[in-house]
Amino acid sequence: MPHDPLQAAADLLRDARSVCVITGAGVSAESKIPTFRDAMEGLWAKFDPQTLATPEAFAADPAMVSEWYDFRRGKCAQAEPNPGHLALVEIERRLADAGRSFTLLTQNVDGLHRRAGSTRVVELHGRIDIWRCTKTGLEYPDLPLPLPEYPMPSEAGGLLRPGVVWFGEALPEDALEQAHAAAESCDLFMSVGTSAVVYPAAGFLHLARAHGSKSIEINRDPTDATGLVDIALQGRSGEILPALVELAFASRG
Ligand code: OAD
Repeated sequence: MPHDPLQAAADLLRDARSVCVITGAGVSAESKIPTFRDAMEGLWAKFDPQTLATPEAFAADPAMVSEWYDFRRGKCAQAEPNPGHLALVEIERRLADAGRSFTLLTQNVDGLHRRAGSTRVVELHGRIDIWRCTKTGLEYPDLPLPLPEYPMPSEAGGLLRPGVVWFGEALPEDALEQAHAAAESCDLFMSVGTSAVVYPAAGFLHLARAHGSKSIEINRDPTDATGLVDIALQGRSGEILPALVELAFASRG
């Protein structure tokens, strides 16, 4: 590990030709959205997200699963992007201005990267603000918050389910293709705010490294990725990402 890891990371970011970032719930934690593996507080503290985020749970109790997701949809709608989200927008802008490529892969379904202003976002696990008909696959954004009833019947006689990827479900084909292309072609891969335990999302770091990219992790706690990356910065993404942008691009004004 370099003697000044933050400066070394900033040097990599400044010189990178093509950057691919993957984010997880840790980036949104500073927008007060609970992560998956930290204890859920309040109304849902007794439920384990990993048991509710499944097709089986929805089939068994569509009303309860719909209400849980609608509760979280409301939390996400109330949340605001934090300095970590905004720093990623700045990185995208700086690279675009320099004619370099940037792709932001996210496991988060809260939409905060888009609301912060990121445009090159690949939402690997879908979007919590969209409901989808179980019969036709038709998507319904902008439904009233909260929904008038749980579960919501669809016009086609099915039910409306959350537009997110559940455990055991395949990721959207186009998102996977974009993620593979970005991970294979980047010369710098950054893993930010994720425990790096859920595949295929956690595999993109390995794919990037296999193609010779440098890698940086920014995370509050050590993860399975920590021992693999070139530079591991431990701490809060809302602090480290802005500091990294400042060091990497400040001299360019
Ligand atoms: P996790 O809850 O597994 O991990 C969040 C990571 O963020 C942890 O490693 C924390 O140490 C770190 N963290 C927490 N606060 C932070 C902060 N302020 N700054 C930096 N890091 C912080 O969430 P994910 O890795 O996103 O999938 O989980 C991946 C997937 O597992 C989710 O997308 C979801 C879940 O099952 C599906 O639902 C399909």
